[in-house]
Amino acid sequence: MQVIALSDVGVRRGESWLLKDVNWVVDEADRWVVVGPNGAGKTTALTIAATRMFPTTGEVSILGERLGRVDITDLRPRVGFASSSLLRDIPMHEAAADVVMTSAYGVTGRWREAYEAEDRERAHRLLEEWGAASYAARPFASLSEGERKRVLIARALMSDPELLLLDEPGAGLDLAGREELVSMLADFARRPQSPSLVLVTHHLEEIPPGITHALLLGQGRMIAAGPLEVTLTNDLVSRTFGMNFDVRRIGERWSAVMRQS
Ligand SMILES: Nc1ncnc2c1ncn2[C@@H]1O[C@H](COP(=O)(O)OP(=O)(O)O)[C@@H](O)[C@H]1O
Ligand SMILES: [Mg+2]
Repeated sequence: MQVIALSDVGVRRGESWLLKDVNWVVDEADRWVVVGPNGAGKTTALTIAATRMFPTTGEVSILGERLGRVDITDLRPRVGFASSSLLRDIPMHEAAADVVMTSAYGVTGRWREAYEAEDRERAHRLLEEWGAASYAARPFASLSEGERKRVLIARALMSDPELLLLDEPGAGLDLAGREELVSMLADFARRPQSPSLVLVTHHLEEIPPGITHALLLGQGRMIAAGPLEVTLTNDLVSRTFGMNFDVRRIGERWSAVMRQS
């Protein structure tokens, strides 16, 4: 199944196109990274895939359902979305476990007093899986950047989605925090029973092993899309970022440094 299919997608705001002529298909078994500089349109593309935004032009199908023809309230819980763009909707005073649980109802905020015991157990299991159990009871506001990232990932998984979208999960983490996250994401990406995965980054160092494909975005345009080996090339990465790079692969990890001429 195609979990994401964008066809000639464009997003216009005022005079500028945040995305233009985007044609991107994600198959169920594939694990994608979206790479590009700041302002390239990565969050915009992910927000469309998360069914939280409609494009100005083109057609979008998510999990085989055409946006515009499907009841979005049925489709939305099937897509897990973690992005700092959602932070403004998170009640900062709530305990981490409650922040995870509230997503089961597709709402933010603890509007219902009694949660099902099942939901509570699931939220704790997810926090445990992502190494966040020790601060499950702490207010979200009191958590570090890295701790918040893990809680937001657990939250995105609460509805047992078929597609998981992570917008810059590594942003703001220190080196050890980044490496821990990369390793957890690698385990997740490699598990066949995991949902389809798309994550956004602007650092090749943050691409977890297990990721199979890359979409390169530069200034709202697709530079390339396909398997890592054919997309993470010196030429394509340099065009994406507008600077000459040497792309290196060390085992299953990637890095890019400015080319010394
Ligand atoms: N409502 C808007 N009106 C005009 N420009 C916008 C609007 N929303 C986002 N942008 C701009 O669109 C560009 C792409 O944004 P975004 O998708 O967040 O990029 P990325 O996630 O790759 O950094 C950015 O330059 C951003 O400032
Ligand atoms: Mg962004």
